[in-house]
Amino acid sequence: MRSIEPPLTVRDKIVWVGGVNILELAQQFGTPLFVTDENRLRDNYKRIVGAFASTYRKFSLQYALKANNNLSILRILRSMDSGADCSCIEEIILAKKAGFPPNRIIYTGNFNSDLELNMALKERVMINLDDTAQLTRLMRFGRPKTLSFRINPGVGKGKYAGLVFGGKRTKFGVDEKKAVEGYLSAKRFGIRHFGIHMMSGSAILEKEYFPRVAERLLKIAGRIAKKVGIEFEFINIGGGFGIPYKPSERVLDIQFIGKEVGELFMKLPSKLSLGTPTLMIEPGRYIVGDTTVLLAKVHGKKKGAVTTYVGTDAGMNTLLRPALYGAYHQVYVANRIYHRPSPENITICGQICENTDVIAEGRRLPSIKEGDILAILNAGAYGFAMSSQYNNRPRAAEVLVNGSTVDLIRERETVFDLTLHQKIPERLKN
Ligand code: LLP
Repeated sequence: MRSIEPPLTVRDKIVWVGGVNILELAQQFGTPLFVTDENRLRDNYKRIVGAFASTYRKFSLQYALKANNNLSILRILRSMDSGADCSCIEEIILAKKAGFPPNRIIYTGNFNSDLELNMALKERVMINLDDTAQLTRLMRFGRPKTLSFRINPGVGKGKYAGLVFGGKRTKFGVDEKKAVEGYLSAKRFGIRHFGIHMMSGSAILEKEYFPRVAERLLKIAGRIAKKVGIEFEFINIGGGFGIPYKPSERVLDIQFIGKEVGELFMKLPSKLSLGTPTLMIEPGRYIVGDTTVLLAKVHGKKKGAVTTYVGTDAGMNTLLRPALYGAYHQVYVANRIYHRPSPENITICGQICENTDVIAEGRRLPSIKEGDILAILNAGAYGFAMSSQYNNRPRAAEVLVNGSTVDLIRERETVFDLTLHQKIPERLKN
């Protein structure tokens, strides 16, 4: 047995996840199929919690449900004491369904409707507002026990332009000055418990960025606390911890980040009269990204003028990231792992009627044949979550592997799901 990269290993020249052969999985459950390795999920969670909590004990991880909302995955994370980061009421309901208690759920919406504000209050979760103007509207429905604001720390970083959430070109958060006004009016409204939050970007692989921006937030928090005369019970530095997608990318040194950020939290709050706040993070990708491989079957190969197209049953409807950001996902021919790459320049695409329907471009892979099974890596974060029924293709199935145990954790959709909520007016029925 040889490990290639998580969660894949090779045995008998075939790719395995845990104790199962993925060709058998493809045969049993069909393709496209998301295969998640439970042990990798648990390891990722333990590694990131250990990195922070071993330096600063008052620590809470809020898993960002938007990365992957599968209830079985949520239940595993909850069983390990994870909290939840929810971006809408529906995510709060999913988190509750998976057993997350309201006091471990933080709600960070943006441009919330009245209904959403009211519901968040009723659910008794921590409310993190993206704008100060929302506070007056929220107070019409009641007073939250704890309130925080999302700060735009003035800087941001992200792997693609679309993944930068701090700085000048973003709809998210409020600046320091506005936040002071927000906390002042919250105080006037009689709110007594406060937190502060930022989420400045995603898929970041530069380890130094995290302590740098955390220090910035701590200083902002210190100035706000002083001006407003409050303390922060939690300081949430967001998610954004990257994973390597390309062979040239290195694993993020999470130990370094946990230690550096933890030390800042040991040192700065006392200097800045911030009390002893809980250090919160809300990762999505780091926890689930590399737990999951997407299996796709090759249905054809066609020579184009500049590239050879390999058509599979996974496309932009199944994994949108390559089409949306030009994202790179490593691809292996699962049933011919040791074969030398052919000199062909290959574009892997799906069955969608769009020219942006790509999974991978400009790859060299072992010569591919119809019927081959491709393993597309790092599909656990924003994979199924961003999949769609475009071109009327039902969404894929998901299985969970634990050693040699395999469980179907989401059934493949059928044509029935395409019309599930459609209504035909009586007058069109005859
Ligand atoms: N907290 C908030 C408020 C967020 O908006 C997000 C992600 C997270 C936490 C988790 O971020 P992470 O640790 O996963 O970086 N669709 C993109 C990613 C968009 C991230 C949106 N917000 C992708 O496929 O790469």
